[in-house]
Amino acid sequence: MNSKITVDSIRAMKARGEKIAALTAYDYPMAKLLDECGVPLLLVGDSLGMVVLGYPDTTHVTMAEMEHHVRAAARAKPNALLGGDLPFKSYETISDAVANAKKLVAAGAEFVKAEGGREILPQVQAIVAAGIPFCGHLGMLPQHVVEEGGYKIKGKQDAEHQKLLNDAKALSDAGAFAIVLELVTPPVAKEISEKISAPTIGIGSGPDCDGQILVTQDLIGAFPWFTPRFVKPKVNCAGEIKSAVAAWKSSLASPAK
Ligand code: KIV
Repeated sequence: MNSKITVDSIRAMKARGEKIAALTAYDYPMAKLLDECGVPLLLVGDSLGMVVLGYPDTTHVTMAEMEHHVRAAARAKPNALLGGDLPFKSYETISDAVANAKKLVAAGAEFVKAEGGREILPQVQAIVAAGIPFCGHLGMLPQHVVEEGGYKIKGKQDAEHQKLLNDAKALSDAGAFAIVLELVTPPVAKEISEKISAPTIGIGSGPDCDGQILVTQDLIGAFPWFTPRFVKPKVNCAGEIKSAVAAWKSSLASPAK
C-alpha cells in the first residue's frame, strides 16, 4: 500500500531530483483511477469550467461549483495530495481569500491554488498563516484570459522574465509549497526552477520544471474539441466512446439470436 503524500513529500521529490507528476481530477472515479496510477499530486482545477461544465473559460466557475467537485474528488480518499483552485474573484481581499480557502479545505482539499504573483502576496501570506498549504500559479493566468486577449506565452521580454522570477521568489519565500508555471518560455521556467526552493510544476513550460501538470481530459483525449498545442494525447477516449456507442447501437438494430 502506498503511503499518504504530503506537502513535505512533494518538496522532498524536488530535493531528490524526482519529477513530480500532477494531473487534474474533478470527480470520484477519476481521482480514484489516477490515485491507483500513483500520481502524487491531484488538482481539482478550475479548468473544470471548460472541460466539464462547458463554460468558454475559467472565469465563470463559482465557489459552490469548486466545493461540489472538491467534495466528489475527496471521496476517493486518495493517497495523492489533493488540492483545489480558488476561483476567479474569490480571493480579491485577504478575508475572502482565507474564508474561501477554508471552505475548500472543509470540502476536502489539502491545499489551495490561486493565480498571481506579488499582487496577491498578502492573501498568500494570510492563507499560509491560517495553516493552509498554498500552491502558486504564474505565467499565463487563465482567470485573466479575457483582459489578456488569449492564452499567450510569458517570459519572452526581459521585463516579463524578471517579473516572473521576482514573483516566483516572493511566493516561494511566502511559503508556497509549489508553483505552477503555465506557458512560460522553457529557459525562464528552467531558471526559476533552479533559483527557488519551492518545486515548480510546469504546463506548456518545457521539460526543466520540477514536475509537470496536465488537464487529464487533454492527456486522454476526452475533450476532443480543443487540445492545447503542447499536449500529445496518449489515448483517444472520445474516439473509443464513439466506437463503443456505435457498436452497442448496431447490436440493438440486429440483436444476436
Ligand atoms: O485549472 C487547472 O486545471 C490548472 C492546471 C492546469 C494547472 O490550473
